[in-house]
Amino acid sequence: MSEKSLSITNKTTEQTAAYPLLEGTLGNPTVDIRALKNDLGCFTFDPGFVSTASCKSAITYIDGDRGILLYRGYPIEQLAEQCSFLEVAYLLIHGELPNSEQLQTFHNEINGHAVLHESLRVFFDGFHYDAHPMAMMVGVVGSLSAFYHSELDVSDPEQRYICATRMIAKMPTIAAACYRHSTGAPFVYPRVDLDYCENFLNMMFSRPEKRFLEQAHAIDDTAVKALNLLFILHADHEQNASTSTVRLAGSTGANPYACIAAGIVALWGPAHGGANEAVLSMLEEIGTVDRIPQYIAKAKDKNDPFRLMGFGHRVYKNFDPRATIIRKTCHEVLAKSSNHEPLFELALALEELALKDDYFIEKKLYPNVDFYSGIIYKALNIPVDMFTVMFAIARTSGWVSHWLEMTADPSTVIGRPRQLYTGAPRRDFVPLAKR
Ligand code: ACO
Repeated sequence: MSEKSLSITNKTTEQTAAYPLLEGTLGNPTVDIRALKNDLGCFTFDPGFVSTASCKSAITYIDGDRGILLYRGYPIEQLAEQCSFLEVAYLLIHGELPNSEQLQTFHNEINGHAVLHESLRVFFDGFHYDAHPMAMMVGVVGSLSAFYHSELDVSDPEQRYICATRMIAKMPTIAAACYRHSTGAPFVYPRVDLDYCENFLNMMFSRPEKRFLEQAHAIDDTAVKALNLLFILHADHEQNASTSTVRLAGSTGANPYACIAAGIVALWGPAHGGANEAVLSMLEEIGTVDRIPQYIAKAKDKNDPFRLMGFGHRVYKNFDPRATIIRKTCHEVLAKSSNHEPLFELALALEELALKDDYFIEKKLYPNVDFYSGIIYKALNIPVDMFTVMFAIARTSGWVSHWLEMTADPSTVIGRPRQLYTGAPRRDFVPLAKR
């Protein structure tokens, strides 16, 4: 037993047991209560895992009270300012920043896996043109498991690494194919001469049939820069709902591509990654600055289910450092954009009013990363229903890093929570004729 411990007494039985306090590198100590059931005959009740650590992890650290986010120890502000998304993905997976040779190799590996199997492309034909792109993502990413299953040995670290890079590589190709399917445009193949974000934008917007004409698509530097930043900010966020879903599914030994599809499902909800789409819908619904007070009042009304989308966070209770970075980028992108974006002005006015309101101050509700990300995506001409897909592309680097960490950890066991049963006590069956 470690030196520090926490004693728990069951007042009913007067039994006391001591539990080790585990110390991480940073953050609160964590009580190891795995022996609680055997010692004191009870479980812990913690819906939503508000106070429960489900694993040890060395990937990302968040201090929600101080607005700190570190990837492998590096502050998000420094990475956002100086890195490419692939550098960050490499860092998350390997634990260290790459040198230029390692980065080039990683870049080549990603480019080598970016193309889709031709048989996978026909899966898109099964979807109606107006299918939500997240629905297509769930189906198509899940079906990668059918292409890479029989020969896959997840106990082999080399094969696990290939799975991880393959996932990161194929996400932009699948995402762009979802968009092009919905518009009826032909799919565009990934190009080895482009970097990750350039490739995605090219697969989304290029018009190969117009390549000899003046109006042929040119990849916009501002868009590439903004996308790179958004992907870095969304790359990982420790044990959030979607990452925990990937870990839970992965803890059973399930096919990793299917586990990532499970992560995409969890990300889709408006309380998580779907918030960026919900923010845009909310701003469009509010419409004009004079209507903001009415919506703030709705958000405060206990009898109204409406919440200010893009506000509040389970962990950040002072500010979301990603929101601070992204707010600045919003100004830059919109200053260079030819489209005047009234929704950004509306968002700023909403933020200002909410931050002065006692309800939001008392409950520590601040804009989160997704309050602004949708506005940037909109300025980049990414359709609203693709916003959460963008998040999924970026978060795949975090999901696969956690999956790799978990599968390499010999102490990993299948995730299996307990429950507080509130149903009927034991009773005898009554035959149909007697009911
Ligand atoms: N608008 C109005 N009130 C809110 C909001 C909001 N956006 N968020 C929380 N509250 C209120 C709740 O009604 C609750 O009030 P009560 O104490 O009187 O019951 C209190 O603040 C605490 O809220 P919880 O839901 O218990 O907080 P939790 O930590 O579980 O939820 C969450 C965090 C889900 C993000 C929540 O703030 C929310 O729904 N926000 C809007 C959706 C959103 O922006 N999600 C994106 C999160 S970031 C991401 O995933 C990338």
